[in-house]
Amino acid sequence: MKKVIFDTDIGIDDAMALLFLHHAPDVDLIAITTGFGNASVSNTTRNALYMKELFNMSAAVYAGAATPVGSALGEGYADFVHGKNGLGDIPITTPMCEAEAMPAAEAIVELVRANPHALSVVAVGRMTNLAMALALDPELPSLVKELIVMGGVFGYNGHRGNVSPVAEANIAGDPLAADRVFSSGIPTTIVGLDVTAETVMNEAYIDQLRQTAGASGEFIYQISRFYFGFYEKIIGKAECPIHDASAVAYLLRPDLYNTEAAVVRVATEGIAMGQTIHDSTRRVFATDDWRDLPTCNVCVGVDAPAVLAFYLSTLSEL
Ligand code: RIB
Ligand code: CA
Repeated sequence: MKKVIFDTDIGIDDAMALLFLHHAPDVDLIAITTGFGNASVSNTTRNALYMKELFNMSAAVYAGAATPVGSALGEGYADFVHGKNGLGDIPITTPMCEAEAMPAAEAIVELVRANPHALSVVAVGRMTNLAMALALDPELPSLVKELIVMGGVFGYNGHRGNVSPVAEANIAGDPLAADRVFSSGIPTTIVGLDVTAETVMNEAYIDQLRQTAGASGEFIYQISRFYFGFYEKIIGKAECPIHDASAVAYLLRPDLYNTEAAVVRVATEGIAMGQTIHDSTRRVFATDDWRDLPTCNVCVGVDAPAVLAFYLSTLSEL
């Protein structure tokens, strides 16, 4: 059984990932930590509480960062992708349950300390809560079992950024936080656009989920209307990449991905702000910026049909 903290800016694709964790038989989801990004932190926290109640989840919800630790590329929330409420503007009732009093960063430290070498963190929003947790407890890297991040893009499989030609949204929203986390030594796997954009749900797939995955399938169908509309506008097709659920897929089936170990740095300013830049050569360059730092696992390839089948079967309990 994997004990998991889900750090998220819920979000349509975050909600798809949360349902993946919820249905996975070998996952014990102990906490959901929230942050700004797809919506304000008050909305993402409300969305977490709403889903916790709707799907009867036991995980505690901790509200986290409202703003980045450094400068961000761009302003505001991604409401044009996820709707004003973050869940595709489906009607949401006010949840009865409340978030815990402890802020997310403190909760991450406390939970990791209580479960040394036993906690997996799946982070699918800005790295802000994690950077704040690292500042609170510099020993965290030796205590976290694994960190799986949805974020970044390295140019594999022809993929580029989604908020600039080189930057992906979760990293661009707080580049300094991402740079600190990737250089920290936490055993980290980065599931970037290189593989998430390869793994695509179309309408036929969503229809199948709706038919076989009960209340979860219906919920995904409802929230995905707005998301599909956004992608139809930008790519001319009603389909969407499985961004955040890909991090969960890696957690449960790392064999479906090819990875490369590399030092990863993030550009924190200038026109490349938010770019994830990796070096696996260990060459001596004119700069020391990649030298003698811990490596991350960067996902460079994926068996996309297998990930799609795995997601469907997990939610459908087939
Ligand atoms: O770039 C995709 C990522 O940005 C996903 O995590 C999505 O939810 C948004 O946060
Ligand atoms: Ca997200």
